[in-house]
Amino acid sequence: MKKITAPDILALKGQRKISMVTAYDYPSGQIADAAEVDMILVGDSLGMVVLGYDDTLSVTMEDMLHHGAAVSRGAKRALIVGDMPFMSYQPSVAMAVENAGRFLSRTGARAVKLEGGFPFLDHITAIVNSGVPVQGHIGLTPQHVARFGGFKAQGKSARSAAALVDEAVALEAAGCFSIVLEAVPCEVAQEITGRISIPTIGIGAGPHTDGQVLVYHDILGLFDRFVPAFVKKYAQLRGESIDAIKSYVDEVASGAFPAEGNFSKMKDEELKQFKT
Ligand code: KIV
Ligand code: NA
Repeated sequence: MKKITAPDILALKGQRKISMVTAYDYPSGQIADAAEVDMILVGDSLGMVVLGYDDTLSVTMEDMLHHGAAVSRGAKRALIVGDMPFMSYQPSVAMAVENAGRFLSRTGARAVKLEGGFPFLDHITAIVNSGVPVQGHIGLTPQHVARFGGFKAQGKSARSAAALVDEAVALEAAGCFSIVLEAVPCEVAQEITGRISIPTIGIGAGPHTDGQVLVYHDILGLFDRFVPAFVKKYAQLRGESIDAIKSYVDEVASGAFPAEGNFSKMKDEELKQFKT
C-alpha cells in the first residue's frame, strides 16, 4: 500500500476534495486508515477528547509522541500529521525544529501542524528546511484560548478577515504544504482558498475549502461534553457503547454471560484423569 505524502496532498488541490480526521491510538488509526481518509491528524485535541482536560494547554510532547506512535502502528496509508503541542515550538526556532523532528524520528508522522501565522513564519521555514513538511493552522487556534477568552470564532470583522488572508499568503510563502482554517466565516475561507496554491483544510469554515477535518470522537458521537455547532455526528457510539457495556453488566449479574461457546472445555479423557 503506497503511503500518501505531503506532496501528494499538495497535488490534490483543484483535483478533488481532501479528507482529514484525527486519531489518537492504534484502533482509531486503523479505523481511519481503513476508511481511506487522506490525512490523519494526531491532534492535541487529544487533551480534551482522550485525556479529559478542559483545553489543549496541558498536552506535552511526550503525550503526543506516545499517542502518535500508536496511531502509526495502526495507519499505513494516510499521511500522518503530528500536532505540535503548546510550548513545543513557541519559545524558539531551534526548539521548534527539534520537536518537529521528533514526530518523524519517533512516530510514523511525515508532517507536523502548528498553530499561528505571522509570529511563527521563521519557525515554519526552519522546520521545512530541516526536512519536515508543515501544515499551518489559523483562525480559531485553541492554544490561544486564554487570550481569546474562550473557543471563539475568528475573522468576523472586515479587518480581521483581511488579516487572515494576509496570514494565509504568508504561510504559503513560509513553506507550508497546506493550511487548516478553523471557525472562520465561509467567505474568508473561500477568499483564502482562491488566493493560495496550497490546499486549505477547513473545520467550521464552510464548503469552499479544498478539504475538511473533523475530530474522530465528534464524527462518531463519542464525546458529548462540548460539541461545536460545526460538527456533524455520523454515529452515536457513546450511547451504543453504554448500552453494550450495560448489557454485559446485566448478563454477568444474571449469569447469561459467559454461555456455551464463550469458554473451552476439557476432553472427556483428560477430564477423567484430572478428576481422579
Ligand atoms: O487538535 C485538533 O484536533 C485540531 C483540529 C481540530 C484541526 O487541531
Ligand atoms: Na490541534
